[in-house]
Amino acid sequence: SQVPFAVNETVRSYEPGSPEVKSLISTYREMWKQNTEIPMVIGGKEVRTEQKTSLFSPQDHSHEIGFYHKGNMDHVDQAINAALEAKEKWNALGWEHRAAIFLKAADLIAGPYRDKLNAATMIGQSKNVHQAEIDAACELIDFLRFNVEFMTEMYAEQPVSDTGIWNRAEYRPLEGFCFAVTPFNFTAIAGNLPSCMAMMGNVVVWKPSHSQIYSAKVIMDIFTEAGLPAGVINMIFTDGAQTAEKILSHPDFAGLHFTGSTGVFQGMWKMIGNNIHTYKTYPRIVGETGGKDFVMVHPSANAAAVATALVRGAFEYQGQKCSAASRAYIPKSLWEEVKEIMGAQLKTVKVGTPEDPSNFVNAVIDKKSFEKCKNYIERAKNSGDSKVIFGGTCDDTKGWFVHPTVIETTNPQYESMCEEIFGPILSVYIYEDADWQKTLKLVDETSPYSLTGSIFSQDRYAIAEAYKALENAAGNFYINDKPTGAVVGQQPFGGARASGTNDKAGSKMNLLRWVSVRSIKETF
Ligand code: ALA
Repeated sequence: SQVPFAVNETVRSYEPGSPEVKSLISTYREMWKQNTEIPMVIGGKEVRTEQKTSLFSPQDHSHEIGFYHKGNMDHVDQAINAALEAKEKWNALGWEHRAAIFLKAADLIAGPYRDKLNAATMIGQSKNVHQAEIDAACELIDFLRFNVEFMTEMYAEQPVSDTGIWNRAEYRPLEGFCFAVTPFNFTAIAGNLPSCMAMMGNVVVWKPSHSQIYSAKVIMDIFTEAGLPAGVINMIFTDGAQTAEKILSHPDFAGLHFTGSTGVFQGMWKMIGNNIHTYKTYPRIVGETGGKDFVMVHPSANAAAVATALVRGAFEYQGQKCSAASRAYIPKSLWEEVKEIMGAQLKTVKVGTPEDPSNFVNAVIDKKSFEKCKNYIERAKNSGDSKVIFGGTCDDTKGWFVHPTVIETTNPQYESMCEEIFGPILSVYIYEDADWQKTLKLVDETSPYSLTGSIFSQDRYAIAEAYKALENAAGNFYINDKPTGAVVGQQPFGGARASGTNDKAGSKMNLLRWVSVRSIKETF
């Protein structure tokens, strides 16, 4: 079918020595030297406060890359008011004007802002060149263009009419304002959550993660340059818990678009429940909240494909994708071969700063994450039923570096097989080949999450068996592929259980949550 706005953005290869990589690294170095000032943006105005808060790069925790102006609860009020003030005019604007703004934002990222947004993601979130490119550039461009495409398709969907009766659907924005809470790990998610709500005609208060503020500034600059009117998206840097309390008790609060931890989301859901009588309308709640993503391997699988999927799936972006492979179930007959190939591949994996594009693994996001990873590793080293077979070293002398680590365990209930770590740690359980079915059950029951998962097999009957047995264990299910790297428009992304509301980012299913449909019947 005809695709008028959306085709997936081509990922640049950034070959060593290429003009593209030289330009990107030179932007990185320039930005690294600047101490960037980051104001909040409320009602289209930059807002500065007395509370300047320093930002440090994960790969060099003594280097201040910038500082932001921290806001207080007055700023939250101001952001809500600015959003509500902008609402009438924004709603009156036809969809084609909203589309034009976000299509222009996509073009700005694809063109003049590509290096800057990629470099900001490399500096502030410690992504290597490739990880920054697939996230900050390609995925955010895809979100913006595909969402415009989905929006226009949605508006075109109309009910059947009859002689003397004309029925129609009006896709109204939600009545009130929306709240976007975004994570550090994907610049694309940070840009998508507020923009897709705004695209559907909503006005938004956006609170990015403290650890992503550096690239959030660039996103906000892009939206502004693309012509986003004042007050439609208001970016605030305020205390998370207090902000949630204030926003979620406002009578005009109409929708929450959240990506982050399960605990925080559940806390917010409870607050919404407690305040339900205060709202003018039932708020929409959409959340994507973590995972413990599996790789389940059948004895018929190709060992090299499994090893590559594990190394890439578990260690790209230091295992900090919510989709990262973090537990693997491997049959005994295949393990030695998989282990050998993984070992050979891991020997070539370089750990270091993104300034050197040959570094595959960079720093984890902050001290808290570093300590968490270190503690899991130390406990595994001292545990009776688990051992560290690759990696296991951590170095915080300059940045928060954790080496890719594989824990082998004889206990499928071992903590690192069940709990989300959000770091470069993969746990592996070796099962007896004859226990394939029993192990399928184990995969389904071991973790409360249900985000992504992979099955590796060359036996079609085994694939069908896993397909059925694991039908509720992953919202994104991969056959003979790693569980990361969902592409907008191709694999709508999200999971259920403790992983979220499964409202599929990068699809019409998500956009539908940000409209309140009016059915209209007219008789002649
Ligand atoms: N969409 C991201 C991935 O699939 C989270 O890896």
